[in-house]
This record gives sequence, C-alpha cells and structure tokens, in this order.
Amino acid sequence: MSTQGLPTFPRDKVAIITGANSGIGLEAAKFLAKDGATVILACRNNERGAQAQTAIGKNSRFLKLDLGNIASITTFSKTIHDNFPKIDLLINNAGAMHPPLTRTTDGFELTFGVNYLGHYMLTLQLLDLIQDVENARIVNLTSIAANRPKSLDFENLNAEKGYRKHAAYGAVNLLRLMFAITLNEKLSGNGHKAISVAAHPGVARSNLTRHMPFFIKPLISPFIMSTHQGAIPILHAALSEHVHGGESWGVDGWREMSGAPKPAKINPLAIQAKLREKAWALSAKLTGSDLVISE
Ligand SMILES: NC(=O)c1ccc[n+]([C@@H]2O[C@H](COP(=O)([O-])OP(=O)(O)OC[C@H]3O[C@@H](n4cnc5c(N)ncnc54)[C@H](OP(=O)(O)O)[C@@H]3O)[C@@H](O)[C@H]2O)c1
Repeated sequence: MSTQGLPTFPRDKVAIITGANSGIGLEAAKFLAKDGATVILACRNNERGAQAQTAIGKNSRFLKLDLGNIASITTFSKTIHDNFPKIDLLINNAGAMHPPLTRTTDGFELTFGVNYLGHYMLTLQLLDLIQDVENARIVNLTSIAANRPKSLDFENLNAEKGYRKHAAYGAVNLLRLMFAITLNEKLSGNGHKAISVAAHPGVARSNLTRHMPFFIKPLISPFIMSTHQGAIPILHAALSEHVHGGESWGVDGWREMSGAPKPAKINPLAIQAKLREKAWALSAKLTGSDLVISE
C-alpha cells in the first residue's frame, strides 16, 4: 500500500487541510505540497502550526484556525478570501476523540463542535471559492465509529442530557458522513462542479488516542496502521479519478481497520434523506449559517 498511483497535485492548485500539524493531516499535507501546490495548514496552535510549516517546507503556509471558535472560523475564512481567488481542495480533517466533557468557546460539546459543526461552518464559509472550480473536492473525515449508531438522538447531540464519549464520537462521525453526502447533493443539484466525499483512515497511529487510558495504547498498537498508511485513503478520496461525489472511502481490511482504499460501508442512517435534512437544519440553527449556493 503506497501513494504510488495517486495523481499529483500540481503547482497551480491550492489545498486547505484542517488539523495539519499532526497525524493524518500532517502526512496528507506533506504529500500534497511535494509537487509545488500551495497547502494551507489550518491549525489551532501557533507553535505546532509553525513547526508543521517548517517540516513541510516552502509550499506550505500555516494559518491559525480554531474550529471550536466561530470567530476564529470567520477570521480564517476572511483571510482566505483576501488571499486566494479559488480553492481546489478542502480536507476537513481536524478532530478529537473521547475527550472528557468539554465545551467549546461557543458552548458546544467539544467533538460535536470541533469535528462536526466547526467544519460545517468552515465549509459553508469557503464554498464560494470552491464550488465552481474544475475538479474541486471537499473531503470530510469520518470513522468506522460512524457505523455504531442505530439512531440519532437530536435532543442530545450537544450533550445537554448527558455525555457518553463513545456514543458522542459515533454520532459525530455519522454526522460528518451525512454532511458529506448532503453537501454533494446540494452542489450537484445546483449544477456546481465541486464534489463532496467522505473518507476514513481505518485505524492509524496518531495523537488521537491522547484521551485513551495509558494501558490500552500498547495493546492496540501492533494492530494499527502507520500514520502514513492512514493518510492514503484520505489522499485517494482527495485525488483519485475513481472517486465520485457523495461516496465514502475507507480501507479493505478486516472490519475496515487497515488495508488499501476501497468504498466504505455506510451506516444505513446516512442514506435517509429526511434524517440528513434534519441534521443539516439543526446545524444551520446552531451555527447561524446555512448554504447560499450562488447561481
Ligand atoms: N487515527 C485514526 O485511527 C482515525 C480513525 C478514524 C478517524 N480519524 C479522524 O482523523 C482525523 C485526524 O485525526 P488523527 O488521527 O490525525 O489525530 P491527531 O494526530 O490527534 O490530529 C488531530 C488534529 O486535529 C487538530 N485539532 C483538534 N482540535 C482542534 C480545534 N479545535 N481546531 C483546530 N484543530 C484542532 C489537532 O490539533 P492539536 O495538535 O493542536 O491538538 C491535530 O492537528 C480526526 O478527525 C479523526 O476523527 C482518525
């Protein structure tokens, strides 16, 4: 399994990757920058963002983005609009897993606010720069955890009635998948060129396990992929000509935990258009942002 066979991402292209200072985002950014494209590293921490820029080199640019803060998303989006006439690729990668109950600056439960709502807002704010660009893509990270929920408790997505970290992470990843599918429908339904897809990395080594009990990590470590391998299905979703709008990509090994890129199993809830519209409407209400697709 390698990046061999993936199309190059040439000099005239511009990509934004959230959470690009670590793990899968950093690996994906290295690949995308290697042939001269401009890669914007959207990271929340100045020091870690600057370090990533140094590690990747001259085609990368760190720009501060805290997805748990609506004001930061708006400032980031304005800076992008002021400096770039178009974006070819947006990878909504940043995220946390199983943190203790924490609220973002705007009062959202951390994983719901950062992994999902922050990317929902960011995407809508940048969409005018992406939607009519030839071959443009929006890649939304998800996880095999998206297959766990048997229903979505809309009354508790923001952990107002209680917080169970595994259930929250499953729901948030299902919402990311649903967003990818709905966004694609809205783009194609309005005749726009950009496509939206979902992708998951299987299980890959990264800082994502920072909230796991210390004794679990050595137990799972031999069975998981390297960070580089985990980035491959994400890069495949971003670049391969075999990927189509609305699809979700994962890996072909046992329980989609490792292996080479292949279309992922999709939770049947994500196919339900009414449920997806309900999730979209709630996201619009909570963030005050809805889609304005220009003609
Ligand atoms: N690794 C896996 O096996 C796996 C499996 C399924 C899905 N995923 C998904 O893959 C994505 C990348 O995870 P990873 O495994 O590469 O983990 P990681 O190494 O922990 O990287 C996560 C990135 O997200 C950033 N981030 C966290 N909170 C943020 C915020 N409020 N604003 C902006 N950026 C923020 C982190 O920044 P800091 O460094 O500053 O914290 C870091 O750059 C996540 O969305 C995760 O859900 C990973």
